[in-house]
Amino acid sequence: MKIGVLGAGQLGRMLALAGVPLGLQFRFYDPAPDSPASEIAEQVVANYNDWDALTRFAEGLDVITYEFENIPVETVTFLEQFASMFPPLDALRASQDRLTEKRTLLTLGIPTPHFDAVESWTELEETALRIGLPAVLKTRRFGYDGKGQAVLRTQEDLQGAWQTLGGSPLILEGFISFERELSLIGVRGRDSDTRFYPLVENHHREGILRLTVAPAPNVTAELQTQAERHLNTLMQTLNYVGVLTLEFFEQNGRLIANEMAPRVHNSGHWTIEGAETSQFENHLRAIGGFPLGSIRPRNASLMYNCIGEMPERDVVLAVPGAHLHDYGKLPRPKRKVGHLTLCGFPEELERHRTTVEELIT
Ligand SMILES: Nc1ncnc2c1ncn2[C@@H]1O[C@H](COP(=O)(O)OP(=O)(O)O)[C@@H](O)[C@H]1O
Ligand SMILES: [Mg+2]
Repeated sequence: MKIGVLGAGQLGRMLALAGVPLGLQFRFYDPAPDSPASEIAEQVVANYNDWDALTRFAEGLDVITYEFENIPVETVTFLEQFASMFPPLDALRASQDRLTEKRTLLTLGIPTPHFDAVESWTELEETALRIGLPAVLKTRRFGYDGKGQAVLRTQEDLQGAWQTLGGSPLILEGFISFERELSLIGVRGRDSDTRFYPLVENHHREGILRLTVAPAPNVTAELQTQAERHLNTLMQTLNYVGVLTLEFFEQNGRLIANEMAPRVHNSGHWTIEGAETSQFENHLRAIGGFPLGSIRPRNASLMYNCIGEMPERDVVLAVPGAHLHDYGKLPRPKRKVGHLTLCGFPEELERHRTTVEELIT
């Protein structure tokens, strides 16, 4: 079976690394040459509106998937004539625009921060009054790793934020003073079989994920059920196939949805060593129409992102329980260039945690 992947970044690379042992073959599509996945499998380098290149890409593929959600909808619609496309187009559409995304969640009874669209300066002033400060102004599209966002704490912050972001359609959200951030990764097969990994706890700095603690500590059965109920509702509504992620804020024992990602997710990288079946393998099992694998965690994991540059390989590998993932990307400030997962019994993790944290900037 040959799988086409739109996007050839690290998520694509890890999909291929999980799929090759299953006997799957891969072809990637990405406008950027020398991307992380191209070291593992063939890549078509062309723009997403190059119909000839897309036709060449689709030749001989059985299934097509995507590893990031900013693929133009027209590209996906065009490719659907050649092969099955998973996750479904509706999921992609819903997640591309933060406004559509939040409306989808709201319609399904999944709690979100208060939000509204902002199209003009006057609308920003009115919406800020209605929602109240602090609030977060975000571009509706193309934001990631905290890019395209500004926190508005006082009335004086409005002008500056409007100047930076006002050129794009925006959404204003109430600021949630959460106790912590959690995410849930689920996978749904073509036969509707659905499984959920345990909730994990995510720590961000400057809008970028730094650390995932898996499974999240102090999660009651009720909290896990609450999260699964929300994600399950979303999956059923979208007739979803593949891995779907939902990010939450936890506040007073209640989960407030922040955003969804119709793909494998950074907060699921711990599953490579830390769970019986990784999110990457389970995504491929789902879209390929194979039985899903166990989502059971093997033990506890701490997943650290390497931001800007990689730590020294031999130093990391000397730490018991540490697993290194180098995406083969050029170092650049604020760029995710790799990750490191520390796996083991909780007391082992505590013993080696500081060593690892000193290696990560
Ligand atoms: N409404 C909000 N209230 C409080 N914090 C927020 C809110 N929205 C975003 N954040 C913070 O900013 C981070 C990045 O925002 P998010 O909407 O998830 O965008 P991205 O696509 O960049 O991940 C979140 O993980 C959270 O820490
Ligand atoms: Mg996010």
